[in-house]
Amino acid sequence: MRGAYHPRLPVTRDFLTGEEPTGAELTALLERGLELKVGRRGGEGRGALDGRSVALVFEKPSTRTRVSFEVGVAELGGTPVVLRGDELQLARGESVADTARVLSRYVSAIVVRAGSHEAVAELAGAAAVPVVNGLTPEHHPCQALADLLTLRERFGGLEGLKIAYVGDGNNVARSLAIVGRSAGVEVKVASPEGYRLEPGLAALDCRDPREAVEGADAVYTDVWVSMGDESDAERRRADLAPYQINADLLDAASDRAIVLHCLPAHPGEEIAEDVLYGDRSAVWDQAENRLHAQKALLELLLA
Ligand code: CP
Ligand code: NVA
Repeated sequence: MRGAYHPRLPVTRDFLTGEEPTGAELTALLERGLELKVGRRGGEGRGALDGRSVALVFEKPSTRTRVSFEVGVAELGGTPVVLRGDELQLARGESVADTARVLSRYVSAIVVRAGSHEAVAELAGAAAVPVVNGLTPEHHPCQALADLLTLRERFGGLEGLKIAYVGDGNNVARSLAIVGRSAGVEVKVASPEGYRLEPGLAALDCRDPREAVEGADAVYTDVWVSMGDESDAERRRADLAPYQINADLLDAASDRAIVLHCLPAHPGEEIAEDVLYGDRSAVWDQAENRLHAQKALLELLLA
């Protein structure tokens, strides 16, 4: 059942950085995500995308984003059209804008994972249908929706929660800070010099992991070598080594703290193996919640 809390996005219907929905819309989206999760076996949401198709363009590898969107579109009654970047004429020089114009004639929305955020913004500018960012080097807002859904599910609400992100100030960290702020969550980030987010984005931006983790309700990390950073892998691993999430660091968090990771994980690097697979890890629920949060997002954008 859909309630009155299901408003449309104002101005633009794209979801590129996570700044687009208001706090109230975000709250509604997360409530709807939980509703879709609980009602999944009963077919909640079925028919929302009846007769509609959604293009899922992946220029980079993906497990969670691709499968959760493909399954999510199907569960809402729509048809997912998965396209790899190298099989589009885009790979042979057709412009991003022309690709957007043409896809808009076939599908009701475009989800895109690309190596350039500017290209995704250009696609959105030329598309006549909503465009959803499925990860760029700068932003991963769909991940942040699932992160918040997981926190909402575990703690019953979001307002006032303290989240510590420890490690590379990358796309995942940036989206968590942006979307977390809209939701009233206090996001503290600890990263070494050279890996920090833009000043002012997080509630606290420091270099000391313990300072960020102190009293936190959730401790979050992501890989040290993101897609596109491979040529710099050794230096990154050395610089980020003091930022591993392990049992010792977790001791500084709240007794009720959970552990988050967007996955894929590299146990023994950014996260200790016993923490990733331990009692406090919420990462598998977090991965599942990609599906529910994105179904709610698609309903919101396409309702
Ligand atoms: N977390 C995430 O986006 O995973 P994938 O790269 O597998 O999509
Ligand atoms: N920061 C990682 C996230 C992968 C889901 C990357 O961009 O590769």
